[in-house]
Amino acid sequence: MYTTILTSLQEQILTITINRPDKLNALNKTVIEELGQIMVSVYTDDTIKAAIITGAGPKSFVAGADISEFLELDGSGGQGLAKKGQDLVFNKIENCPKPIIAAVNGFALGGGCELAMACHFRLASESAKFGQPEVNLGLVPGYGGTQRLTQLVGKGKAMELMMTGAIIDATEAKSLGLVNHVTSPDELLPKTTQLLKTIISKAPLAIAKIISLTNLAAIGHPDGLELEVAAFGELFDSADAKEGARAFLEKRPASFKGI
Ligand code: COA
Repeated sequence: MYTTILTSLQEQILTITINRPDKLNALNKTVIEELGQIMVSVYTDDTIKAAIITGAGPKSFVAGADISEFLELDGSGGQGLAKKGQDLVFNKIENCPKPIIAAVNGFALGGGCELAMACHFRLASESAKFGQPEVNLGLVPGYGGTQRLTQLVGKGKAMELMMTGAIIDATEAKSLGLVNHVTSPDELLPKTTQLLKTIISKAPLAIAKIISLTNLAAIGHPDGLELEVAAFGELFDSADAKEGARAFLEKRPASFKGI
């Protein structure tokens, strides 16, 4: 169905694998288009409750935007590329009401690091490498890197990483807060799946609110606390909140329905 991406739906979790291993899964125009189409499905298909984004092969998650498409670009072309990617893919991932985790299995450079950062959080294998090396091409990140890297690691470290183009390993990425867990390569997908199974066993409406409110906090939204009050109240009108309280009082596991 897709030419650059593999998808597999198992137990309500969609694994999205960028599949151009001979080009280290670089994001060309087709990958962005196809990721955009897949995000529409993630939003609208009720059989999908969560997603994992990863890369094909042992070496790379995504080694960046496809540099072979850069020479033909002028100013408005570059702007169009960044805008389309942000609108169709990166912002859609970040704001998706269903949980999306990056399973970073190798190089996550440039647009690859940005793709991982757009996800709700990240797991990395011991072999993963992260960086924003756009400066080496005379560029800046264009798929949200200046904003999301700063949110995740703080201003000073983000400045250093982007200005030097340094590539860091998974241990350093974890110490900076860029990734939550580091696993062996073999454990990466099982551990990511296990975390998502836990998350999708919770109340989906609460998970969606956690995503949107935490995203507001990350951008320093001035009305974050007010919006939290509103969301807290709204959820009391959900059947799942009643079920959660009832299940606790009846000393049994809750069975949530997403309503
Ligand atoms: N765009 C297009 N092609 C890319 C690519 C990218 N971002 N990253 C890797 N590739 C291609 C290489 O051109 C090469 O293709 P070829 O076999 O047809 O020559 C293939 O993927 C393998 O990459 P190679 O560079 O040979 O692997 P390596 O192990 O020597 O180096 C990297 C790995 C990741 C260090 C190196 O590929 C690299 O620096 N890539 C670009 C990273 C980058 O700047 N990303 C930000 C872009 S904005």
